[in-house]
Amino acid sequence: MGSKILLADDDTLVRVAIQKILKMFHHDVVAVGSGRQVLEQVSEDFDVIILDINMPDMDGFETLERLNQQKVDIPVLFLTGAGSMDYAVKAINLGAYDFLTKPIADIELFHVKVKQAAEKKHFLRQEKAYKKNLEREVQVKTQELAEKNILLEQYSNHLENATVQIMSSLQAAMEEKDGYTAGHTKRVTEYAVFLGEAALISHEDMLVLRRASQFHDIGKLVIDLSCIQKPGDLTPEEWELIKKHPEVGASIIEPLTFMERERDIIRHHHEKMDGTGYPDGIGANELDTLTRIITIADSYDAMTSRRNYRRNLSTPEAVGELRRCAGSQFDPDLVEIFAGVVLSARSLYKQ
Ligand SMILES: [Fe+2]
Repeated sequence: MGSKILLADDDTLVRVAIQKILKMFHHDVVAVGSGRQVLEQVSEDFDVIILDINMPDMDGFETLERLNQQKVDIPVLFLTGAGSMDYAVKAINLGAYDFLTKPIADIELFHVKVKQAAEKKHFLRQEKAYKKNLEREVQVKTQELAEKNILLEQYSNHLENATVQIMSSLQAAMEEKDGYTAGHTKRVTEYAVFLGEAALISHEDMLVLRRASQFHDIGKLVIDLSCIQKPGDLTPEEWELIKKHPEVGASIIEPLTFMERERDIIRHHHEKMDGTGYPDGIGANELDTLTRIITIADSYDAMTSRRNYRRNLSTPEAVGELRRCAGSQFDPDLVEIFAGVVLSARSLYKQ
């Protein structure tokens, strides 16, 4: 199949002669008499442009420059009379594809050059299509990847929630053996949430606080419970055993990497502001807000709920005890916020 060729020469005789030769080789030719007409007629459909150099109004070079400016990507063959080095250099600099000499002495050679130029255009078209395809593919893949990432995140969240659910169920089943611990976990979580809300902690921190409260005493479930439930005071050995529960709890949470913060809070929920708590004896500088919240919630419940080895305190008595230990054991600001919450809740309840 022939190619589509745009031919420009101001000399009618030359134009007609070349048009005839090209048609003989079954090419489809649009012949014009000036560079300006080339600019008017040119389109992506053409495979080759043949330009005469010397034309009135706009010569071949200027026409090629304009084509370049318009980003026309069609191989240009220059028609030239006597060969001139100046012309050659100028044409190459402008990005011309080749030269055709006129009058045409060797028709075969002339046609080989035209065919080569057409092949070049064919190659350019393929390259362009390939690039376009590639861009589209990259776009599609990027979109797919973004969608998969969203799915993965959802899946990961589901998995985290499912893990927490399983642990809660397991904990609930184990706590059935010990009614006090079950109620304690629930109440500490409630107090911690009240205090967290009153202290205006972030939504993200609230989630961590809930989980940490839910599992703060999980270590007690693996320690022999018989000593907790027995009446009377605990022996020093029994106390030592009980005091291991924050570490044991933290080690239970350890494999769940998404609960790293909860793990640290569980480990430190018996630490004190003055550094006399356990297991690490860390002080105010290392206790974060969430841990401070839980120590208050935990101690308040221990003071106000019935337990075998401690007298039950009223709300004002327990608040008085929290205030007495503010600074040494508890965060004073949080104690005041908590006191405000529980005392106003109590007065509401009394009304
Ligand atoms: Fe505890």
